[in-house]
Amino acid sequence: MLKIAVCVSGGGTNLQAIIDGVASGVISNTEIVRVISNNPNAYALKRAEAAGIDAVCISPKTFETREEFNKALLKGLEESGADLVVLAGFLVVIPEIVIAGYRNRIINIHPSLIPSFCGTGYYGLKVHEAALARGVKVTGATVHFVDEGTDTGPIILQKAVYTEPGDTPEILQRRVMEQAEWNILPQEINMIANGEVKIG
Ligand code: GRF
Repeated sequence: MLKIAVCVSGGGTNLQAIIDGVASGVISNTEIVRVISNNPNAYALKRAEAAGIDAVCISPKTFETREEFNKALLKGLEESGADLVVLAGFLVVIPEIVIAGYRNRIINIHPSLIPSFCGTGYYGLKVHEAALARGVKVTGATVHFVDEGTDTGPIILQKAVYTEPGDTPEILQRRVMEQAEWNILPQEINMIANGEVKIG
């Protein structure tokens, strides 16, 4: 049984897709052992609680230094016993001690086709604003392993989504979530849980 910890900051629709995927069997052989949010007001925490999952807030604001927060985040993950860390809209730069502790065991969902519209500053709606400003006809989502860079780790799954005339960043964000993110993130976890992902 693969134990996963899911890190969130906001609404948690990707978390919900994982919870639903485990419940429906789309994700097999997997248990969500903990949800961690940096934001005490994240609706994602309520989704976790409603599903009976251990949900904790580890906020940088409650620590004197960033280093203390980083250590607390690592401890929060280690204590959960998770084998895999899933970043599902987690707006925190993952500290090196966590990356080193979970080498090739952290995955992230990014709402574009990497290497387009990724890296520092590309998060949330900004990604979709940039895609529309550039006039791309195809965007999508990417699941990748997390390394020390920003959105630079090995790509595992991608799914393309067409832009449409009249798209706003909000409309495009929703379409990318519905057509790509909520499918490939659960799919990827299921593949890892069933030994279908090999690294290098
Ligand atoms: C998603 O677009 C995800 O790709 C990005 O942040 C957003 C999180 O949305 N990294 P939600 O909290 O899962 O609803």
